[in-house]
Amino acid sequence: MRASPVSLFLLTVVCIDAYKPVIIVHGILDGPKQFQTLSRYIEKVHPGTQVPVIDLYDNLASLKPLWKQVEGFRKAIYAIMQKAPDGVHLLCFSQGGLICRALLSTTPDHNVDTFISLSSPLAGQYGDTDYLKRVFPECMKKTVYRLCYNKVGQELSICDYWKDPHQRTRYLKSNSFLPVLDGVKPHKSIKAWRQNFLRIKKLVLIGGPDDGVITPWQSSHFGFYDSNEKIVEMRNQEFYKNDTFGLKTLDARGDVSACVQPGVKHVMWHSNFTVFTNCIEKWLT
Ligand SMILES: *[C@@H]1O[C@H](CO)[C@@H](O)[C@H](O)[C@H]1NC(C)=O
Ligand SMILES: *[C@@H]1O[C@H](CO)[C@@H](O)[C@H](O)[C@H]1NC(C)=O
Repeated sequence: MRASPVSLFLLTVVCIDAYKPVIIVHGILDGPKQFQTLSRYIEKVHPGTQVPVIDLYDNLASLKPLWKQVEGFRKAIYAIMQKAPDGVHLLCFSQGGLICRALLSTTPDHNVDTFISLSSPLAGQYGDTDYLKRVFPECMKKTVYRLCYNKVGQELSICDYWKDPHQRTRYLKSNSFLPVLDGVKPHKSIKAWRQNFLRIKKLVLIGGPDDGVITPWQSSHFGFYDSNEKIVEMRNQEFYKNDTFGLKTLDARGDVSACVQPGVKHVMWHSNFTVFTNCIEKWLT
């Protein structure tokens, strides 16, 4: 039997209606190409889902300053949000997680439902990793602050979330991105930014101990080193206790979900099917 035009039409409407678009924001030194597998996973379990991977600041351009990237991503994502009256999901990898956080805090009328942060240095980065070696070949983590904590350094994305636990005063004074976003450096929009951020329905934090790049790996869950390089977990962070950007409120609402997965290297998070089924799939409705 042939389907009538009317029932075909209804079927189409139902499919378009069923799943919110999943917007993907890539990480440092990568781009849309690295997310083909993840897009396939999503389309396989939720046929018909739109999965736009934003093709901006790819590869070397991902080293541009983060506030600048936020503006570019905002434009592209805004256009998608406007065509999605039921809202969208944001899935942001690595450095992209910070771009998404900044975008959410500074966009008053966003309609992001779930923000999935996939192994992102949400509380900052302090570690000698391959990425660091590619950006600063001659440098050890102990001295990076000298390059990062000044006007010129802040023009490099990695410096925007470089958080040297032994240089707190310099970090607060000279980092113009992360402490501002965290609300630990006073500015006049703290309240408004908190409200904007709290428009999300759910925050999903994914990361794990074998990541190898995000250092400390707990930064993917808002944990970070204290001045003795001991881990202070999310709920004991000052930005959490003072609720400077909304994290505590979100957690009290029951809307922060953590997924810790061992055995996953940094570049595998988006292409590992177990991670997808354990940590991502259930949020994409
Ligand atoms: C957090 O709150 C305490 C107590 O009210 C205050 O002394 C401190 O300056 C606050 N810190 C930040 C970063 O807002
Ligand atoms: C995939 O993820 C699981 C945990 O979710 C991990 O045990 C496994 O080692 C990972 N495999 C790869 C190739 O990353």
